[in-house]
Amino acid sequence: MNTSKTAHISLLSFLFLLSPLFNLVSLSYAASDPNYDSFVQCLTKQSGPNDQISSIVYSPSNSSYTSVLQAYVRNRRFNTSSTPKPRIIVTPLKVSHVQASVICAKNIGVQLKIRSGGHDYEAISYVSDVPFIILDMFNLRSISVNIEQESAWVQAGATLGEIYYRIWEKSKIHTYPAGVCPTVAAGGHISGGGYGVLLRKYGLAVDNVLDAQIVDVKGRVLDRKAMGEDVFWAINGGGGASFGVILAYKIKLVKVPEIVTVFRVQKTLEQNATDVVYRWQFVADKIDNDLFIRMLLQPVSGSKKGERTIRASFISLFLGDANRLMTIMNKDFPELGLKKADCMEMSWIDSVLYWANFDSGTSPDILLSRTPDSVNFLKRKSDYVQNPISKDGLEWIWKKMIELGKTGFVFNPYGGRMSEISEKATPFPHRAGNIFKIQYSVNWNEEGIEAEKNYLNQIRRLFSYMTPFVSKSPRQAFLNYRDLDIGVTDNGENSYNEGEVYGVKYFKDNFDRLVKAKTLIDPDNFFRNEQSIPPKPFQQHTK
Ligand SMILES: Cc1cc2nc3c(=O)[nH]c(=O)nc-3n(C[C@H](O)[C@H](O)[C@H](O)COP(=O)(O)OP(=O)(O)OC[C@H]3O[C@@H](n4cnc5c(N)ncnc54)[C@H](O)[C@@H]3O)c2cc1C
Ligand SMILES: *[C@@H]1O[C@H](CO)[C@@H](O)[C@H](O)[C@H]1NC(C)=O
Ligand SMILES: *[C@@H]1O[C@H](CO)[C@@H](O)[C@H](O)[C@H]1NC(C)=O
Ligand SMILES: *[C@@H]1O[C@H](CO)[C@@H](O)[C@H](O)[C@H]1NC(C)=O
Repeated sequence: MNTSKTAHISLLSFLFLLSPLFNLVSLSYAASDPNYDSFVQCLTKQSGPNDQISSIVYSPSNSSYTSVLQAYVRNRRFNTSSTPKPRIIVTPLKVSHVQASVICAKNIGVQLKIRSGGHDYEAISYVSDVPFIILDMFNLRSISVNIEQESAWVQAGATLGEIYYRIWEKSKIHTYPAGVCPTVAAGGHISGGGYGVLLRKYGLAVDNVLDAQIVDVKGRVLDRKAMGEDVFWAINGGGGASFGVILAYKIKLVKVPEIVTVFRVQKTLEQNATDVVYRWQFVADKIDNDLFIRMLLQPVSGSKKGERTIRASFISLFLGDANRLMTIMNKDFPELGLKKADCMEMSWIDSVLYWANFDSGTSPDILLSRTPDSVNFLKRKSDYVQNPISKDGLEWIWKKMIELGKTGFVFNPYGGRMSEISEKATPFPHRAGNIFKIQYSVNWNEEGIEAEKNYLNQIRRLFSYMTPFVSKSPRQAFLNYRDLDIGVTDNGENSYNEGEVYGVKYFKDNFDRLVKAKTLIDPDNFFRNEQSIPPKPFQQHTK
């Protein structure tokens, strides 16, 4: 190790400690010369000599650097040769490694990106335009379930599949109300507000969190009590990455029946999809809380050659048997024309597999697999609908979708428990008054910039066409459907004003309390990214 560099680094660390004003200086220096050796040396110093440091740090020259980096890429757009790569990947095996990584990344002045499951739609957990280190949490994934207390501690790197499986091992009538995709990890999913098929019955993942552990910017491990209620509130829907490193959540388990019922019914325009979709808007958020009916809308080939149509797929989970489901549907949603033969009764865990698109008969063991079947190029966006869209409106939207070609929608109904929880209870503000959330979705397989430009343009145009039909002032968005189109910050002088632009879309008035929590726990903005919560502007927080 070059000694003059050591001297330089410690001088910079000294300046870093001296005053936040010097951050910029040390950052820009380190940015042009981030020092792998000094990071490793710092980790070793922080953790002790026999602490496996050499087995948890990768630089681009390590032979397994690329496979470690790619292991949790979930969007092929960010798996190209021109995608910016981390200077270092660190894969902690224990909590002290996380503490040391925070302290040492801060010391060398390089941005830390935290990755748990890598499902961020814009890849902000593993890509950045500025030099960065990935803190990859996949090794920290223990799950301990306590059925008597109806709770579990889950580490950030645990996937939803692993969580569902470990709960199911111990009880066939308990689960956790979170997302549908089994490879999504707790760290990003829960901190971002996570939802799934149980949201009308039990609310979001964050409505069922009891405690948490984080590592803060000073390298301290803090639980709920130690971090305080503002910060605990913030990491339950405000995104983890603005506040610290989430180590684990203590989640509350909820009850499900042993037998549940699922169905999938499809209607094309020729089969009066417009009438049924129209009607769904008056039913889906008000119907029995045991029933969740998601709707997928896609442009597809019609029955005549060369013709295009829209197909609406109604995919459902019912917390009960088929007879009770039929009674509810005949009374409240006869327009769908559901038949008993469409309904499939199954165990709760089989419904998890069904929703994750596994073939019937697949063993639940598949939930322990951390690799998805396939990974596409993709882009997602979100919106909220507060007034039913008219039939004319729907027909106009179909026309636009068919013109554009490939972008589809997922409509997720709210209501039920979602409407009972106050907008301020968690940072996630999209509660009463929202009939459903829209996810815009486009996937493609063609490589190259041209294809990407095309598809991005397509989904953005559809988003623009939807303006008259969706929430306004602000036009609300869902944090877990990360979309950098709605605003970004470079974490410079204007970070507060920039943050407010996307912040009020994701969080409405809760943005202010998130800024307050941020200012408490990380006033110098070490934990930052393209859409992080800014601290209060400098002049204000120094009084
Ligand atoms: C196929 C697919 C299906 C999905 N289905 C659903 C769904 O059903 N319901 C739903 O709500 N969402 C869904 N999502 C969105 C998903 O919940 C979010 O992308 C979520 O943030 C992913 O978490 P992750 O840990 O896997 O991702 P990451 O990319 O690792 O992280 C996402 C964000 O959280 C931060 N972060 C991650 N770990 C930590 C940590 N330990 N401490 C602090 N910050 C951290 C990252 O820095 C990043 O900003 C889906 C996404 C995909 C790709
Ligand atoms: C990366 O390479 C360095 C230098 O050869 C080595 O010391 C270290 O153990 C390697 N890291 C891993 C995780 O294998
Ligand atoms: C990333 O690209 C490599 C080829 O460079 C490929 O082998 C790998 O499967 C890709 N992974 C994902 C998730 O796209
Ligand atoms: C569609 O609606 C029309 C008019 O209400 C009706 O006559 C027709 O039978 C319906 N078609 C289908 C497939 O339900």
